[in-house]
Amino acid sequence: MDYTTLKTKKDGEIAIVTISRPDSLNALNSTFFKEFNAYLDSIDKDGNVKALVITGDGKAFIAGADIAEMQNMSKDEGFQFSKTGQNTFLRLENLNIPVIAAINGYALGGGCELALACDFRISNNYGKFGLPEPGLGLIPGYGGTQRLSRLSGLGNALFLSLTGQMIDSAEALRMGIVQKVVDASELLNESLDIAKKIIVHGPNAIIALKKVIREGNKLDLNKAYDLESKEFSKLFESDGPEGMKAFLEKRKPNWN
Ligand code: COA
Repeated sequence: MDYTTLKTKKDGEIAIVTISRPDSLNALNSTFFKEFNAYLDSIDKDGNVKALVITGDGKAFIAGADIAEMQNMSKDEGFQFSKTGQNTFLRLENLNIPVIAAINGYALGGGCELALACDFRISNNYGKFGLPEPGLGLIPGYGGTQRLSRLSGLGNALFLSLTGQMIDSAEALRMGIVQKVVDASELLNESLDIAKKIIVHGPNAIIALKKVIREGNKLDLNKAYDLESKEFSKLFESDGPEGMKAFLEKRKPNWN
């Protein structure tokens, strides 16, 4: 499929998608959401994608939802626009492959929210983060109010969203919003290297980790421990035997 808001490529088994509307700093509009969902469909169908890296075109990662498109929305249209974003980012969060945000510049509003729905975030030293919505008379509507407080704590979420203040990548690292900051020239290579280190692991172990950490985070602690034991034990009938045998035989595992 030809996309107007995305550039897509693959590096071996790693898919790379670049959000590309540089004239509006990659602001997220309805066309983006349609195309991004179609792109996620294509990853499902491909069957040979083991990790996804998301980045932005030009000087921005994503400068938020498209303000020009939102400006004339009714309350019902606003509700739908929020649900479309929430559902898309939930889908992204629940992919059973690792998803890395490679943040190359402004990650504001909906852009920050998309990054928060990824498994983790690598930023270059130009990364800028913020939830400026209250300055527009709005609030984040794509899950960001909930994800930010769970990731970085209530105080940081309230501080960033109430002030609408932009922070740089060093501050985002300190708040636990990004996991690593690298030089601009290294961003994509570093993100791909990290993805490559992940995908040599047992594929079922990766799926189980995402499930246990993400679902467990929403559960009562005892239920979360039960989920961990259940998923741990299931691996004794999938990746576990080969992974442990390969270790003891001093060779690389063959997951097939
Ligand atoms: N929606 C629609 N258009 C946007 C946009 C957004 N979220 N963010 C930037 N743009 C557009 C600008 O309107 C401008 O368009 P123009 O060239 O037709 O005038 C273009 O992108 C470049 O942006 P500009 O503001 O000139 O760049 P800058 O380097 O001076 O400032 C930002 C960069 C990110 C600080 C500034 O663009 C900004 O504050 N954007 C909005 C951020 C925001 O509130 N996001 C939350 C939305 S809910």
